Amino acid sequence: MKLFIDTANVEEIKQVAAMGVLSGVTTNPSLVAKEGRDFIQVLKEIIEIVDGPISAEVVSLDADGMVEEAQPLAAIHKNIVIKVPLTTEGLKAVHRLSQQGIRTNVTLCFSTTQALMAARAGATFVSPFIGRLDDIGFDGVDLIQDIAHVYDLHAIDTEIIAASIRNPIHVSQAAKAGAHIATIPFGVFDTMIKHPLTDRGIERFLADWSTLQKK
Ligand code: E4P
Repeated sequence: MKLFIDTANVEEIKQVAAMGVLSGVTTNPSLVAKEGRDFIQVLKEIIEIVDGPISAEVVSLDADGMVEEAQPLAAIHKNIVIKVPLTTEGLKAVHRLSQQGIRTNVTLCFSTTQALMAARAGATFVSPFIGRLDDIGFDGVDLIQDIAHVYDLHAIDTEIIAASIRNPIHVSQAAKAGAHIATIPFGVFDTMIKHPLTDRGIERFLADWSTLQKK
């Protein structure tokens, strides 16, 4: 499973990219609004840091508007992927964009049938939201497993991005459930790395090492 970062914060992207673990970036209107910066400028900076798919979301609600927004975004760089919501209009836009060779990430996916529709419309990626499903008492990881099973059974090549990740358990469960990618908030990367036994182990190695220096 590949790792993307779910943020529009360039500093966060730089920090995770420096570890060599990043294969892509996802943004959404809320994440972009949080930064309060020009969206196109932010995308251009991200392109310089990560050589992989970078999702930029459209905000129109009709297919014509989505396609119109998508074209200049896609023209910025070959790595830009257009993020489209999973609605009837969104699927029409995905179909048209895929005919133009523009890659799409169909977002706000909460069911297996939605994921099947996205794939058949020509989506490059589909983003089932684990955390938001968990929040309302459904098992988000089960959804990933179901979609992976259906895609596998029917030789569908749309890639599954496990989204709305809240903790490292979501990441490991998404990997086991068959997600191709997990898009992870900055803070969760830290919790994926840290382990108290690693810290304790380093302390003990250093303490033992210093006794040797005193001999
Ligand atoms: C996916 O691409 C979305 O940006 C994101 O994962 C949404 O997560 P949230 O539920 O934490 O807002």
